[in-house]
Amino acid sequence: MAPATSLLSLIATALLAAQSVAALGCFGSGETYGQVTSDTSQLASARSSACNSFAGSYPQGASRSLCASFPDTGTRINFSASNTASTPQTLTYDDCEAALTIEMNGCKRGSRQKHGNFEYLDDPNNGTC
Ligand SMILES: *[C@@H]1O[C@H](CO)[C@@H](O)[C@H](O)[C@H]1NC(C)=O
Repeated sequence: MAPATSLLSLIATALLAAQSVAALGCFGSGETYGQVTSDTSQLASARSSACNSFAGSYPQGASRSLCASFPDTGTRINFSASNTASTPQTLTYDDCEAALTIEMNGCKRGSRQKHGNFEYLDDPNNGTC
């Protein structure tokens, strides 16, 4: 009886996890990173600027955002990082860089996703900042 019960609870946990990934994940519409620039080093440089600005201390619920302009294509990337924990947190450059690299490589239209205690937004849009 006990093993079946714990299997059910494992399945329930997996379903809940799948739901939160669906709610927080890749955007299905809007501009792509390819429309922002074909030069991936410019994307890396925008990400690096965002993480330099995002590294530091966050009170509970605090967030920081940064907009990177791409005048050649008339586009921008909106970035943000939010502390979703119930206590103050410190975000390191490396954690930010690792999280946004996963998101930008995995979601061509941008995404909203949690990594650790932070929720990240990366969103390519029409129009410069
Ligand atoms: C993106 O950044 C621009 C410039 O800071 C801002 O006006 C806009 O509200 C931000 N958010 C979105 C979703 O475009």
